Amino acid sequence: MRVRGHGILPAMLILGIETSCDETGVALYDSQAGLRAQALHSQVGMHAEYGGVVPELASRDHIRRVLPLTRQVAREAGIEMADIDAVAFTQGPGLAGALLVGASTACALAFALGVPAIGVHHLEGHLLSPLLSRDPPQFPFVALLVSGGHTQLLHARSLGHYELLGDTLDDAAGEAFDKSAKLMGLGYPGGPAIAREAARGVPGRFKLPRPLLHSGDLDFSFSGLKTAVLNQVNKAAQAAGQATSPGTAAVLDEATRADLAAEVQQAITDVLVAKSLAAMHATGARQLVIAGGVSANLMLRDKLAKASAPTRHHPGFKLFFPELSLCTDNGAMIALVGGLRLQAEPATAPHDYRPTVRPRWPLEDLMKRQAA
Ligand code: KG4
Ligand code: ZN
Repeated sequence: MRVRGHGILPAMLILGIETSCDETGVALYDSQAGLRAQALHSQVGMHAEYGGVVPELASRDHIRRVLPLTRQVAREAGIEMADIDAVAFTQGPGLAGALLVGASTACALAFALGVPAIGVHHLEGHLLSPLLSRDPPQFPFVALLVSGGHTQLLHARSLGHYELLGDTLDDAAGEAFDKSAKLMGLGYPGGPAIAREAARGVPGRFKLPRPLLHSGDLDFSFSGLKTAVLNQVNKAAQAAGQATSPGTAAVLDEATRADLAAEVQQAITDVLVAKSLAAMHATGARQLVIAGGVSANLMLRDKLAKASAPTRHHPGFKLFFPELSLCTDNGAMIALVGGLRLQAEPATAPHDYRPTVRPRWPLEDLMKRQAA
């Protein structure tokens, strides 16, 4: 299935609203012309001083932003609200209060316009976001979903048919970046902060574990990495004559911080690449999609690009990433999935416009629904 406005789907204009965490994303997706407009407000600055997302502040900020952003995308796309054929919103998983803002807004708008409201699974949004790029993947493909809360390997056979190949037993890769960054006194979100520091660092000075690298399955575990980072931080602080106490980030010198960041990034990406290759091998798939916030990591992209090249021993495979601007949370992926779902299941009972949300919503539930 090619999606990016290649004229295969009937013409339909879908408004997508994403408010599951700390980004308010709104977009207009046209099933014929592709993405018409998108707007994003990131709350990163607001949460930075707390070292992580404060749910109540997140909800209040979504309330302030969602309607102005909706007006903005309508203006940029040059459309009237009445031109919208459906409103898609992130129904879960995510922060309950934050989700409720998007769900209420979407359901109210859809009700007022007399069009369907479609609750979308946030991870399905990430998973299918590369379909918006110029050179989209085709089903079936293997996907590595790496966001702040999830690290999963999936075999995506067709829309809604996603077989789980491997999952994280504890922390997600994004969480490992975020927690390591916090321990090292770097900012939030940790992934970009570690990547920035790592660029100045010398690899090899520190040695961190590569959890489950040789486990023989496709599961991940990153919580041990965080403990190893904490040990290294404490050791470095003690060597510098600092007294360390639990809950207080040690002050590392610049070179130590950069060298440790380089090793954190190496360790996490080594595991992600090795498991992705194992998944390609196990399924025999020829396309690998990497999506979710961590897919913005340039070292991960680079290592995978090298690993995907054909050699004498394997034929190689094709790699797909979302556009960099669509790696982290956004409204475009939600509008896209809303459109695809509506096309695939036109007979589904119309939404009752009750803004229900599913803060904990395993992706596997989508598959059960599909199987039912
Ligand atoms: O998908 P996402 O925007 O939100 C969730 O659905 O969780 O992912 C956020 C995660 C955070 O953990 C953040 O540190 C990580 O993505 N991230 C990165 C990079 N940019 C964002 N991790 C590594 N390198 C990056 N460049
Ligand atoms: Zn996300």
